[in-house]
Amino acid sequence: MKKINIAIDGYSSCGKSTIAKQLAKELQYIFIDSGAMYRAITLFFLQKNIAASDIEAIRSEISNIHLHFEFNTTTQKNEVVLNGVNVESQIRNLNISNNVSHYAAIAEIRKLAVAQQQSIGKNKGVVMDGRDIGTEVFPDAELKLFMTATPEVRTERRYKELVATQPDITREEVRKNLEERDYIDSHREISPLRQADDAIVLDNSNLTMDEQLALVKNMVNEKLQ
Ligand code: CDP
Ligand code: CDP
Repeated sequence: MKKINIAIDGYSSCGKSTIAKQLAKELQYIFIDSGAMYRAITLFFLQKNIAASDIEAIRSEISNIHLHFEFNTTTQKNEVVLNGVNVESQIRNLNISNNVSHYAAIAEIRKLAVAQQQSIGKNKGVVMDGRDIGTEVFPDAELKLFMTATPEVRTERRYKELVATQPDITREEVRKNLEERDYIDSHREISPLRQADDAIVLDNSNLTMDEQLALVKNMVNEKLQ
């Protein structure tokens, strides 16, 4: 059966990973959350107290970063392993979220992540979500989606997720983080977040997860014919 790559880009917390995971399960493809790599790299530098502004220190440490993914059969997700340690539970908090876009704007960091992402996708059969998948990582992906939802819906979705493990978190903190990341991600010099010319825009503000899956499955089926 023909295999394709599916690139899913868009703003933070609009449901990219959710649809990517659903699709990968249906199609028996590999799902890669590329943001997890930038989050793990951010964790590495924060642990070493190296600021995103300290480019020299980042250059000299970058060869010490080794990332790979391991499949968690319980969550049905590929989780990121940083230098031998599964860091999935350490990379979703607000501290990482507040720092990640600054590190993700650095050329050396993007080079490391993109090379690994491209190698994972070379044999097709990958659904990857992120910010530059359709424009930079897989410019030849057979299906490209650009997802969006209103800021209010996105804030509410992410707030509900985070408050379960961080009960003190406020909606305002979440909203501010999403707004700041979207701004930095869209305005950075290297591979800014933008819609690929051949991407299909999907606003899922008013769609349930089942509705969005049904819509995207139709798009995939067209590409597989
Ligand atoms: O899930 P959420 O939308 O909160 O973000 P994420 O996908 O985990 O990505 C975290 C951050 O990593 C983004 O805000 C970007 O700064 C960066 N990122 C990127 O630059 N390029 C990608 N392909 C994926 C993520
Ligand atoms: O990957 P991204 O940051 O774009 O978003 P996500 O982590 O896939 O989704 C953020 C939250 O929105 C999750 O808790 C999803 O369950 C929820 N969601 C939803 O409620 N309705 C949708 N149509 C899509 C996602």
